[in-house]
Parts: sequence; structure tokens; C-alpha cells
Amino acid sequence: MPEEVLEGLQPAPGKKFIDGTFGGGGHSSLLAARVSPGGLVIGLDRDEGAVDKSQEAIDQLAADNPDAAKCMTVYCASYHQAARALAAESLEGVDGLLLDLGLSSDQLADRNRGFAFSVDAPLDLRFDTSSGEPASQLLRRLSEQQIANVIYQFGEERFSRRIARRIVEKRQQRTPVETTTELAELVRRCVPRSKNHDIDPATRTFQALRIAVNDELDILTKALGEAANWLNPGGRIAVISFHSLEDRIVKHAFRENGMLQIITPKPLRPSERETNQNPRARSAKLRIAERTA
Ligand SMILES: C[S@@+](CC[C@H](N)C(=O)[O-])C[C@H]1O[C@@H](n2cnc3c(N)ncnc32)[C@H](O)[C@@H]1O
Repeated sequence: MPEEVLEGLQPAPGKKFIDGTFGGGGHSSLLAARVSPGGLVIGLDRDEGAVDKSQEAIDQLAADNPDAAKCMTVYCASYHQAARALAAESLEGVDGLLLDLGLSSDQLADRNRGFAFSVDAPLDLRFDTSSGEPASQLLRRLSEQQIANVIYQFGEERFSRRIARRIVEKRQQRTPVETTTELAELVRRCVPRSKNHDIDPATRTFQALRIAVNDELDILTKALGEAANWLNPGGRIAVISFHSLEDRIVKHAFRENGMLQIITPKPLRPSERETNQNPRARSAKLRIAERTA
């Protein structure tokens, strides 16, 4: 939702922003082009691969707009640690913060990470492969009840118990689930096919495991509890979420924060033109709030 983000965050020369989910740098590049000269966009990503590749985005921007490229800097960090990046840049606050949650196209295309379960890959699902445990290990460690809870809470999957039982049976047979294909087939056998054939029945279980291994909802809650302190008065926060669990957290965090005024009483949705070009944007919701004092 690039146009809506720009309209909401109001970048202008000299302003400073944090893009907490740098990904391929698409939003950061748009912001950098508008804050130049004299502004700054601090990109953060938990995925070292995204940070390693960030120089490509900066070089590409430099080819068209060298001044804008000078306004972009990228750190490997989780966005809930944005205060550290502010300190590293000797800033007390920024004029805007963007969180574009979910997966980047590079992550989906990476055949070793397991994010696109249509591709056979190790069941990893971590954004940061240098810490934490891959999803396959989580499924070996948790009890049947804990697995069912994860799949129910983070995937809103009605058949979570059946799926958890089957996962644990496989473990007991000494053939634990190790790959995306194994898990996707196991889930498809446990979940009756819905009328909506567009959505693979395995989607909810993969979403749940991804949220669990990356601790996504806790990190989002923590960050939103702090975010107003990272903003200058009048600064704005924009969050693009991709499922109802995330959107609920954003909605409540904005409502309950006395320092924030809500700019979007109802979340903004992508235009039909955007969803036609990029079907993955279909479920995106953008909420914006402003620091008042
Ligand atoms: C949807 S993509 C962002 C795409 C980006 N807006 C663009 O225009 O290219 C989400 C990115 O957020 C990163 N991410 C997820 N959780 C994060 C966290 N807690 N802190 C920092 N980055 C995170 C992922 O690694 C991924 O690269």
C-alpha cells in the first residue's frame, strides 16, 4: 500500500523515519526519495539476508537519486529494539515509523526457509535463522497439547487437536515432520476441504507455526507499547497487518495509548488495482496514528 503509506506518513525533506520491516527496501526507497535532502530513513530487519541485500536497494536508488540513497541506512535488528537504532544515530525521536508485517517476496522465494509451503523445503520458518529454533524442532519439543494450542491460538484452526495428534503420532513412529511438504500433506489429511478452494487448508497451520517460532505477536505488542516514545510530537506510526490477530493488536494498542491519536478509525485497504497486481495484498490492513504530545 505504498501510496496510502506515503499519504499517511507525510514524508518531506529533512524528516526522519524508521522503517521497522525493511524487507526488499521498497517502502524505504520511497520514503528516502521524499526526505532528501537532509532527512534519514533507518531500515531495520531481523533477517540478515535482507540486510545483506539492502546495499542493492541503496545502489538502485543511488542510480536514480544519489541524494536519496545518502538518506538510507540499514541495521540488522528487530523493530522492537528501535530505541537502539535511535541511539546509534544519536536521535531522540523520528517523524514516522512504518511496520509492514509479514513476509517479503525474497523470503517467499527462498527455497530453504519453508515460507512457501508449495515448495518442498526444511520446515524452518524463522525470520532470523541465527537464533531461536526452526519450526520442525518446535514440533519435536512441544507436547501434543502445546502444539494444539499454538495451532489454535495463532492459526485459528478448528482442527488443531487432530493435527497435533497426528504430528505427535509421526514423532512416536520415529518419522517426525521435517519438511513443508510433510506438514502440508499431514494437515490436508486432517482438515476437510472448505468451500473456499482458494485457500489451502495448510495455510492456517503454517501461519501459526511462523508466528510461534518468531514470537511475532509478543514482539508486535511490545513494540507498539513503546512506539510513541520513539516518535517526535506530531510523528506518525503506520502499521500494515495481514491477519486478524495482528490487526486486533494494532487496533487495541492505538486505542489504549493516551499519547496517540487515531488517524484511521477504520483500517485502509489496498485498492483493487493493487490487489489485481499483487494478490498477496488482498488481506492487508493499514492503520495510522499520530503522537499528540
Ligand atoms: C512484508 S516484508 C517488508 C517489505 C518492505 N516493506 C518492502 O517494501 O520491501 C516484512 C519484513 O519484515 C521483517 N521482519 C519480520 N519481523 C520483524 C521484526 N520483529 N523486526 C524487524 N524485521 C522484521 C521480515 O524479515 C521481512 O523482511
